[in-house]
Amino acid sequence: MDYLEIEGGSPLCGEVRIQGSKNAVLPILSAALQCPGTTVIDNCPDISDVASMLEILKGYGCRICREGTRLIIDAETLHSGRAPEDYAGVMRSSIMLLGSLLARMGEAFLPYPGGCVIGKRPIDLHLEALRRMGAELWEEPEGLRAVCRCPKGAHIRLPFPSVGATENVVLLAARAEGVTVLENAAREPEILELCRFLACMGADIEGAGTDTVRIRGVKELHGTEYRIMPDRIVAGTYMLLAAAAGGKVLLREVPFHQLGAVRQVLRQMGARQESSGDSLLLWCPGRSRGGFRTDTAPYPGFPTDLQSPLMAALCVADGTSVIQEHIFEARFKIAEELGRMGADIRIRDDRACITGVKRLTGAQVEAKELRGGAALCIAAAAAEGKSRICQYHYIARGYENIIRDLKDLGVVVH
Ligand code: UD1
Repeated sequence: MDYLEIEGGSPLCGEVRIQGSKNAVLPILSAALQCPGTTVIDNCPDISDVASMLEILKGYGCRICREGTRLIIDAETLHSGRAPEDYAGVMRSSIMLLGSLLARMGEAFLPYPGGCVIGKRPIDLHLEALRRMGAELWEEPEGLRAVCRCPKGAHIRLPFPSVGATENVVLLAARAEGVTVLENAAREPEILELCRFLACMGADIEGAGTDTVRIRGVKELHGTEYRIMPDRIVAGTYMLLAAAAGGKVLLREVPFHQLGAVRQVLRQMGARQESSGDSLLLWCPGRSRGGFRTDTAPYPGFPTDLQSPLMAALCVADGTSVIQEHIFEARFKIAEELGRMGADIRIRDDRACITGVKRLTGAQVEAKELRGGAALCIAAAAAEGKSRICQYHYIARGYENIIRDLKDLGVVVH
């Protein structure tokens, strides 16, 4: 059954624990390849992107055992053959394997990466940075072939702070000869998390989480045990859900310090927030306020991954709001679906103008990508009547069990 049905219109009441972070665990799974032994990863989210990544790792010869939220990865028998195309072709994060495969095996072949249909998403920054470290890369009709027998540290400045390119450079530099200095590196918390994991494996990294990362290559990395941090995007999704549907929710295991820009937007919308330990109580007295502008930006700015959920919440907020998307083009696909529910959204290039309506009405809509799908759940929970959200599989890429979470927060889901 590739859909979910939501009966919207009632205020929320309930609590949820935030799952482990998707964008942290994917590069960490890649890093685990670099250890010729066993790595244990805890709090691993049970999402389809992780399942696909594990299939790819198995295709490269890893043995993997899952015990609840714990993953035990044995990469001793890793080989550099082809990744199974079914998976690597659909998940962009497979590009994340490149740095690690080159570091451990000196060669790699990757079917062209896919992922969510948002923008063109080229990989030129990854390739250029890896070339600077001695990699030779060929684009073949079916995929990307790479050889790097002796990776060397280099001074690299990224033209744009790409998250994935930063991660690939760090992954290869961890085992390269000499020192790599990466300037204009992405500062997303998931990069800090990857560097912390690599440091537990014996890597020597300074400046993780800042725009200049310095990596001194080491000869070998060893196994470790690591707990994945909670997912800031999932936490932000449920915060925006509460702003849209109203009511009171308690979120547990929230990475507050990573959510500054999101909490600021929620304050503008009139949501009240009270934190205690790592829990957040959020309640929304009356209709949310719109009438402001939000720009997506690299961290610590407002995350592009929460742009669609914010758009959904603004559809029912009082006033006209503007969202300017600076990271990905074509990330407004969901506006048309929101329109089927009665939303008033005008798109011009990378700018969306959203005039809040008093109420949305339930409709049959299609999740066209991961975060857009989550946005439709938000709109459906705020709408009067029943909505059917088709193509649930996109949502399952990043939300462990959104049906369970929505129910726990008081949404009626069928
Ligand atoms: C990661 C996240 C994704 C998030 C994004 C931005 C993972 C698995 N995914 O994606 O959820 O939305 O960061 O925070 O962590 N670009 C190029 N050339 C490149 C690489 C990127 O032009 O070689 C462009 C992209 O097209 C895009 C922008 O740079 O416009 C940002 O991309 P990047 O930061 O690399 O995002 P991802 O790592 O793909």
